[in-house]
Parts: sequence; structure tokens; C-alpha cells
Amino acid sequence: MGRVSLLSQASSQLYPLHHSPKKKKKKKKKKSFLIQRPIEMAIEHEDELKDEKNPRPLDEDDIALLKTYGLGPYSTSIKKVEKEIKDMAKKVNDLCGIKESDTGLAAPSQWDLVSDKQMMQEEQPLQVARCTKIINPNSEDAKYVINVKQIAKFVVGLGDKVSPTDIEEGMRVGVDRNKYQIQIPLPPKIDPSVTMMTVEEKPDVTYNDVGGCKEQIEKMREVVELPMLHPEKFVKLGIDPPKGVLCYGPPGTGKTLLARAVANRTDACFIRVIGSELVQKYVGEGARMVRELFQMARSKKACIVFFDEVDAIGGARFDDGVGGDNEVQRTMLEIVNQLDGFDARGNIKVLMATNRPDTLDPALLRPGRLDRKVEFGLPDLESRTQIFKIHTRTMNCERDIRFELLARLCPNSTGADIRSVCTEAGMYAIRARRKTVTEKDFLDAVNKVIKGYQKFSATPKYMVYN
Ligand SMILES: Nc1ncnc2c1ncn2[C@@H]1O[C@H](COP(=O)(O)OP(=O)(O)OP(=O)(O)O)[C@@H](O)[C@H]1O
Ligand SMILES: [Mg+2]
Repeated sequence: MGRVSLLSQASSQLYPLHHSPKKKKKKKKKKSFLIQRPIEMAIEHEDELKDEKNPRPLDEDDIALLKTYGLGPYSTSIKKVEKEIKDMAKKVNDLCGIKESDTGLAAPSQWDLVSDKQMMQEEQPLQVARCTKIINPNSEDAKYVINVKQIAKFVVGLGDKVSPTDIEEGMRVGVDRNKYQIQIPLPPKIDPSVTMMTVEEKPDVTYNDVGGCKEQIEKMREVVELPMLHPEKFVKLGIDPPKGVLCYGPPGTGKTLLARAVANRTDACFIRVIGSELVQKYVGEGARMVRELFQMARSKKACIVFFDEVDAIGGARFDDGVGGDNEVQRTMLEIVNQLDGFDARGNIKVLMATNRPDTLDPALLRPGRLDRKVEFGLPDLESRTQIFKIHTRTMNCERDIRFELLARLCPNSTGADIRSVCTEAGMYAIRARRKTVTEKDFLDAVNKVIKGYQKFSATPKYMVYN
């Protein structure tokens, strides 16, 4: 019945049967000619009406028939051979092992050193110039005024490989050395040492690796993540989101750790600057680096700049008695300037970390520059237990170690101390040639680290200063 219905459908489309009985007759004839099968007219007619309303799905024969439409005599065999060739090529590639695209090098047998050499000789190094003006822009005979440093200014045209839309006024461009035609547009110049500060690989620290510090994490996320994910909330209320956060607290309480977790979490570009990197030999260099840093940050969609150990540059200004003002102070003032942002700063958040907040310049700290100040205090009992658990997660420990007891034995200690306890416990186990760390090892380690190294602890000093 399948074939019949197909044909009847097709023919009913060609000759709508309700209009002319003549055609209907014709159709019937055709049908009976094609399919030699007695069909009762009345039933068939009813069937057809039904079919029109909800056509029967095609069965496999019909589909096979439809598929042959428009195919040449050899097309199936050609397709088959093509597939075979593809499979064979893949097999050969698999057998060869590493592909060209993996290493960037072709197999040595395919090297053409002679022509490569020739190409190298023909291709000249380009010269860097600045396009200062475009004459008759947006027209056929646009000309470009370029300024080649220390040589001269020229009026030139474009090379073959650049389109006029690529070139803008004030852009750095590469020009060839004969006709000084513009060959490629170049990105703005940014100090390579500044470019290097971008954190490309996400650190493997997550919020789960930070023990305690619940409040601090909340505060940090509020400032960093909320404005980036839901800027509309701030627009609706009509307030500017906070620009920056200062993290301060005793050494080893997880300031850098939390910043790394933030970097891991966000998709924004993360730039990490160590304060001392900005201290340069020549006058004005540090300030220039800060400017370029923010320029680079502004060119990104969203960016977090993290200044670690900011006391290296952010110290309060003072008169050094020699006359001439201090280069470090100038760098700090540039940061202040950039934070204020005469130009819109875009989606840039600034984090800073220090353990001497008292030495920082008040200008840097005033609200509007660093709105939020998050203190990282000493972890409490619960946090310490948690930190113990975090650091022993990867260690091969005995089953039921009483971490709470251990945490109780380390009052006033920081995350770094606890980490050191864990490492030391491991050392005891190694010394005793054991494969697992026991609770006794931990207790010994607490004795050694917490009691023994008390002299070195920086926490009391921090408490005195602040
Ligand atoms: N809350 C914590 N949870 C888990 N580990 C911690 C915590 N605080 C500190 N640590 C451990 O201590 C180490 C040092 O911490 P971090 O580098 O964050 O200190 P810091 O606050 O930046 O100190 P500094 O002010 O001296 O730079 C970390 O690598 C981490 O292993
Ligand atoms: Mg740190």
C-alpha cells in the first residue's frame, strides 16, 4: 500500500482531483498502468482524502527511491572511494604519529631550505613608524603622513596587504625600507615587562583551599565579582561600584592566597604586580610602568590588577632631607592618579595586599581610591581546624587524627604556621621511615613549630605596629 499511497499523493498534487473529473480519470489510468493491482475506487478515494489530512510516513523503499533522484550513475561508487581515501589518509597519519601541526615543523624530507632562504632574503625587516595624519580619508587616493623616528616624515600610500580601514591616526605601523609604504598595523607599544605581568595560566587555588576567612571572601567577592557579573544593579541604584580593595593583616594569613583564588575564579584578565617591580633605576620609569599597566588593563574587557606587597611603593611621603623628591613616591602618586582616573577606567578592579597598612600613604587609602579595607585576622579555632584539614588533604595520614585538638594547641598561629606544622609532621614520618603520618608526629611538629619558632613569629610585632 505504501507505494500506492505515495503515487496517489504525488498525482493528487499534480492534478487536484476535486476540480476536474477528467483529470481524475487520467490519473486513475496512469495508476492502473503503473501498478498492476486492482484497487477499488471508493475505498481508494476515501483513503486519499485521509492521506491528504495526515500523510502517511514514507517507508524505506520510498526513501530509497527518493534518494536516487538527481544522482549520476557513478556517484555512489565515487563517494565510497572518497571515504576509503579519507580513511586511508587518517590511518597513515595515525601511523606517522605526531602531525605537522603539532610540532610546527614538517617532516625533514619535505623541507625546502633553498626557497626558504630566498624568501628570507627577499623579505626585508620592516621599520616602525607612527602614522600621524591621514590625508583625504575615506577616499580612493588617501595618503598617510608617517613619522619615522630620527629620519623624517613622509607622505606614503598603503601596501598591498593592508586595508584602509585598518589604519587610524596616531597608530604605530610597520613600513618597508624602500618606499616607506605601510605594510602592517602594529599594536600600541607596551613595555614587555608590563605585558609579562599578566597571569595567563589560572592558579590552581580555589576558594575551597582557603580555610576560614569566610567574611573576607564574601567582602572580596562582593567588590570584585558582583560589579563584573551584575553591573546593572549598581546602575539602578545610581552608585559607583567600589574601585578597589586593600587586604591587610599579619604575614601568612592568606592575603596572596585569596587573591590567587580570585584570579582562578574570574574570567577577567588578571594582572599581578609585585610592588618592588615598580621600583626602577631611572627617574620616571616606575610611573611610566604604572601608566602602561593601566593602559593595558583598560584595553581589556574586564581586568583585575593585584598589587602585592604594596608597601614597597605606597609608603607615606616624607622629606628625605636631600632635596629632590623620591622616585618611589612619584610612582605611588601615579597609582593614585590612575585610581582617580581622569579617563574612565573601564571595568578595572584594583586589589592591594600589604602587612604594614600603617606605613601606607593616606592619599592612597582614602575612600574613592581604595574603598574597601579587608582585614585578615588570625584564624579562630574553627578556621584553624579547617586549614589543618585543607593541608592534610593530600597527605598520607592516619585515619582519625584529632584536628580540633591540634588546632587548639596552636593558638595565635597563622595559616602559614599551620602549613609548616603539617610539613614538619611529614618530615618526622620520613625520619622514622614510615609511610603514614601519625598523630604523634603532628604533636611533635606543633611543639617544634609553634613553641620553638615563637621568637620568629611576626604576629606580635604586627600587633604592636597596628
Ligand atoms: N586561610 C588559609 N587557608 C589555607 N592556607 C593558608 C591560609 N592562610 C595561609 N595559608 C597558607 O600559608 C601560605 C602563605 O600565605 P600567603 O602567601 O597568602 O600569606 P600573605 O598573607 O600573603 O603573607 P604576606 O603578607 O607575608 O605576603 C599559603 O601558601 C597557604 O598555604
Ligand atoms: Mg603575600
